[in-house]
Amino acid sequence: ARPVRASLAPRRPEYVPSRIDDPNYVRIFDTTLRDGEQSPGATMTSAEKLVVARQLARLGVDIIEAGFPASSPDDLDAVRSIAIEVGNTPVGEDGHVPVICGLSRCNKRDIDAAWEAVRHARRPRIHTFIATSEIHMQHKLRKTPEQVVSIAREMVAYARSLGCTDVEFSPEDAGRSNREFLYHILEEVIKAGATTLNIPDTVGYTLPYEFGKLIADVKANTPGIENAIISTHCQNDLGLATANTLAGAHAGARQLEVTVNGIGERAGNASLEEVVMAIKCRRELLGGLYTGINSQHITMSSKMVQEHSGLHVQPHKAIVGANAFAHESGIHQDGMLKYKGTYEIISPDDIGLIRANEFGIVLGKLSGRHAVRSKLVELGYEITDKEFEDFFKRYKEVAEKKKRVTDEDIEALLSDEIFQP
Ligand code: KIV
Repeated sequence: ARPVRASLAPRRPEYVPSRIDDPNYVRIFDTTLRDGEQSPGATMTSAEKLVVARQLARLGVDIIEAGFPASSPDDLDAVRSIAIEVGNTPVGEDGHVPVICGLSRCNKRDIDAAWEAVRHARRPRIHTFIATSEIHMQHKLRKTPEQVVSIAREMVAYARSLGCTDVEFSPEDAGRSNREFLYHILEEVIKAGATTLNIPDTVGYTLPYEFGKLIADVKANTPGIENAIISTHCQNDLGLATANTLAGAHAGARQLEVTVNGIGERAGNASLEEVVMAIKCRRELLGGLYTGINSQHITMSSKMVQEHSGLHVQPHKAIVGANAFAHESGIHQDGMLKYKGTYEIISPDDIGLIRANEFGIVLGKLSGRHAVRSKLVELGYEITDKEFEDFFKRYKEVAEKKKRVTDEDIEALLSDEIFQP
């Protein structure tokens, strides 16, 4: 069915989820369709972006950054269709309608394009950014700090003047920006109407304790910050994006920018599934923080993003990698067969993963007697202890030569004359 244009659709009352009033509630801002799409080779068609956006809404993300509308007419169209459909469709048990966001640099043309794309959503947001580190201001923007502050202030005010009440501002490369300058520009954009202040570690340079301190310092030293939401945006250049994001949340950020499977520029972004499951798993240590993500949709979301972005996750990727819930060594398999909590901190059910066998056991050369015997029982074979010892010796010979021992290999070994009646 063709989506109804929001302007023609009957107006529904503004939806404000009550959970956002809770100081422990952490908003998940998903930028798979913007920063994620900036990964080399990950370009998606408008139709693909819409399919992924629908899934992000089912997953329960609070904000979908659907694209960078000024970057191309196609992207503007993609963001607009997402705003029209996904931005007006309640999902989940609480009838949540995600905020639909479009990125823009700090100039009128970009902001106009972003507004044109997102304004159809029930909860539209413009996200505007300008670099604030010395290295970026001097070499990329070729502007003085004073000029940068005045552009930021004017452009946030301009976005508000279009009728957008939800404006996010990012001082790009905040991780390498001068602190005093950062407090100053943030204070100015708050006065101009910014409602979310995102602190990007654009080049993934900070260490977790350092990034946590940056967020705590911004919170403590920026006048007016109590009326805004502090956000994190951590790139993964040193493999620290998830750790930095969690440090930011612990220090007071209540919006976390992430992507499914951690895709994004260069080494990618903080991964949604890692951040969300860490918060869920270690909630107490994080002072009771929680998100609105329905984690049972994580596996499906990961698969969809792999399919549409063409970027496949490595087998050992945390949470969603093929091996993340698989056990091969004898000691681990024995532990799992006795009690799953020995080697699993998350239940696969929690992320909507249905595994081929209940214990996630993968037979290989490291597997021990307990796991191999359990596999025989699972396949319906009962053999004596003596027969099993013979079988196990031959199993090891086969396993030495193979990466994985399949059910078919087991059947073939059992079909040898020694086990025939
Ligand atoms: O990495 C970055 O700084 C960004 C901003 C636009 C948030 O992507």
